[in-house]
Amino acid sequence: MTKKLHVGIIFGGRSGEHEVSIRSANSVIEAIDRDRYEVIPLAITKEGHWLSPSDSASLLPEYARNLLPPTVKGSGEALTIVGDPSHAGLFRLEGNGPGATNQKLDVVFPVLHGTFGEDGTIQGLLEMAGIPYVGCGVLASSCGMDKVTMKTLFRQAGLPICKHIWFLRGEWERDPEAIKVRVAREIGFPCFAKPANLGSSVGISRADDEQSLKGAIDLAASYDRKVIVEEALNMREIECAVLGNDEPEASLPGEYVILEAQAAFLDYTEKYSNTGRVEFVVPAQVSAKLSSEIRRMAVKAFKAVDGAGLARVDFFLLRDTNKLLINELNTLPGLTDVSGFPKMWTATGLPFGKVIDRLIELAFERHVDKSRNLTTR
Ligand SMILES: Nc1ncnc2c1ncn2[C@@H]1O[C@H](COP(=O)(O)OP(=O)(O)O)[C@@H](O)[C@H]1O
Ligand SMILES: [Mg+2]
Repeated sequence: MTKKLHVGIIFGGRSGEHEVSIRSANSVIEAIDRDRYEVIPLAITKEGHWLSPSDSASLLPEYARNLLPPTVKGSGEALTIVGDPSHAGLFRLEGNGPGATNQKLDVVFPVLHGTFGEDGTIQGLLEMAGIPYVGCGVLASSCGMDKVTMKTLFRQAGLPICKHIWFLRGEWERDPEAIKVRVAREIGFPCFAKPANLGSSVGISRADDEQSLKGAIDLAASYDRKVIVEEALNMREIECAVLGNDEPEASLPGEYVILEAQAAFLDYTEKYSNTGRVEFVVPAQVSAKLSSEIRRMAVKAFKAVDGAGLARVDFFLLRDTNKLLINELNTLPGLTDVSGFPKMWTATGLPFGKVIDRLIELAFERHVDKSRNLTTR
């Protein structure tokens, strides 16, 4: 039997999407091929502390916890990764004093959503450490995290996007009247205010008039120093999953279908709580022509940010004109039992366990490709 690869699964994190990340990690641990991989769970608290594998495991639901290798139970010291490639393994933070351990990592799967996970920060650490990792690199991660930068790249690639403006929290605090005038003139009502760098609908709200605009911008500005305001669209929400490195492939598109009018937009609760008010349907009920257009655009969006590994590209299909706009690209899409990414690949013929195999292969492929770069003259 060949030796198992040691896969570090990092989850939790200093993010408003901490809980979603735990649910995604749970799905990955359930689906990963245990004959090929040995999982080392590495949780990061909301405060940013790295936990021991056994404490990390205790954050997971019992079923997933019981699937972990027995070695995890005994490893009670907090472990972390250091940015030095001569230690391609885990470092002890406590116990017998900080220092290297024998615990090697062959590859890391950062199952972190939002800040300090999806934004290039953990990817930077993994680059410094020289460890292969699943998913997008530093640049694609940070560009995919920032809704303003991402839209700029999409526009540059000729992809259609919605009308929007953006400003800094400081500008809003100094002169809210000027911002309100800009929103009224350039966007109009209703509109959506969003923190530029977040996900899972956290900090996002709709403003129907100038009165509600203040609350919406204040909310968004409490999560980020950069705020984006977009025209509110009457649309269908279509998604498409992408897998690959330099020659990415797109899945069949899926759609969030709103079953009850109370679900005004896909907020955090609607996305993750099984309210029964929204349903994710694959394949999306669109024509074959539109479906291939969605897949083509998803690949184009992936390439526009120089993506790697995986991403989910989210579209708005305008109800009145049937026009397709790109809303966003998520470099670490939700991987929970109710999430679109695994469902879309399953419907395309690739069950989640196989998706994970592919992601790990892609991580090595990219690592090898990067290793060809000269770092000396
Ligand atoms: N311009 C818009 N018009 C109408 N609804 C929107 C608009 N932007 C966002 N929404 C709603 O808010 C949800 C979350 O917004 P999104 O931009 O996808 O942020 P997140 O990164 O949090 O997923 C969307 O899925 C959609 O339901
Ligand atoms: Mg979204």
